[in-house]
Amino acid sequence: MNENVRPESMKRINTPELANAFIEEQIAAIRAQVGSKKVLLALSGGVDSSVVAALLIKAIGSQLISVHVNHGLLRKGEPEQVIEVFRNQMGGNLIYVDAVDRFLDKLAGVSDPETKRKIIGGEFINVFAEEARKLDGVEFLGQGTIYPDILESEKGIKAHHNVGGLPDDLKDRFALVEPVKLLYKDEVRMVGRQLGLPANMVDRQPFPGPGLGVRCVGAITRDRLTAVRESDAIVREEFAAAGLAGKVWQYFTIVPDFRTTGIDKSGNRSYDWPVVIRAVNSIDATAATIEEIPYALLNKITARITSEVKGVSRVLYDLTPKPSGTIEWE
Ligand code: XMP
Repeated sequence: MNENVRPESMKRINTPELANAFIEEQIAAIRAQVGSKKVLLALSGGVDSSVVAALLIKAIGSQLISVHVNHGLLRKGEPEQVIEVFRNQMGGNLIYVDAVDRFLDKLAGVSDPETKRKIIGGEFINVFAEEARKLDGVEFLGQGTIYPDILESEKGIKAHHNVGGLPDDLKDRFALVEPVKLLYKDEVRMVGRQLGLPANMVDRQPFPGPGLGVRCVGAITRDRLTAVRESDAIVREEFAAAGLAGKVWQYFTIVPDFRTTGIDKSGNRSYDWPVVIRAVNSIDATAATIEEIPYALLNKITARITSEVKGVSRVLYDLTPKPSGTIEWE
């Protein structure tokens, strides 16, 4: 039997009871696989790694060592929430690495989108590998691989997850622990809910690995990155208040790398960044349609962004479906 193939007999996990049964089964399987050894996990705070972390903490407690790398491209409040949930609430063994300056220094002046992605991905591996080498006696690597990752890597569409990129000395050192590798996304969310993870972590919208880095168009600067992060937080807050969270597939802001003229609070001419709002609906990200956001909500968000976000005096709404535009701007 190929352990990377979902058996036809496996039921779709679509009730809390089935999720609980899966959790019990996996706890036993993880304990049997790992024994008294240690497991290392890169914990981004995304749905998949969060669910794996919660499962592993439940199964083996402090034998799990999670590493959260803050690369400075996460959304507002995310690193804090990872620490709160996994260290403070679940009592997990969490190493928090503040790598913000390191990433932003490496990215300074780099404007090509694919080069930016490579730098972010490569530096992530470097930071994680450095942490891994500091630890003794770790024999396992936990991974949030899910079934679509396996299907896609079999089709050759993408190499799945971190291990592919790890340097050889580490790749050969670890056996993998991938407890959700046969689950689809909705099943992972259901399991996460039953594990007690917060709703905003389990029901998160898709978020690219390079994070806000691809929404701060062109060469990333700290001022525009702050503008992306603050405007994104306002859009998320207002969408949630309007009952649109969970209804709209993906929504966020982009800050382009050009300035436009405006008028500041004292009535003087300003020369500031625009913020672009994007809100799309999709089934699998291969195509997307535009959400018809109520005009009053767009007005409210515009008023808040222009008054609360430093260096921004203009807000636009992107009406472009995919195709012709991609969901992200770069
Ligand atoms: P595009 O922009 O290609 O995005 O229409 C499709 C979906 O993929 C996400 N996305 C990424 N996810 N790494 C990721 O993990 C990336 O480099 C990346 N680029 C885009 C995007 O947010 C959307 O959901």
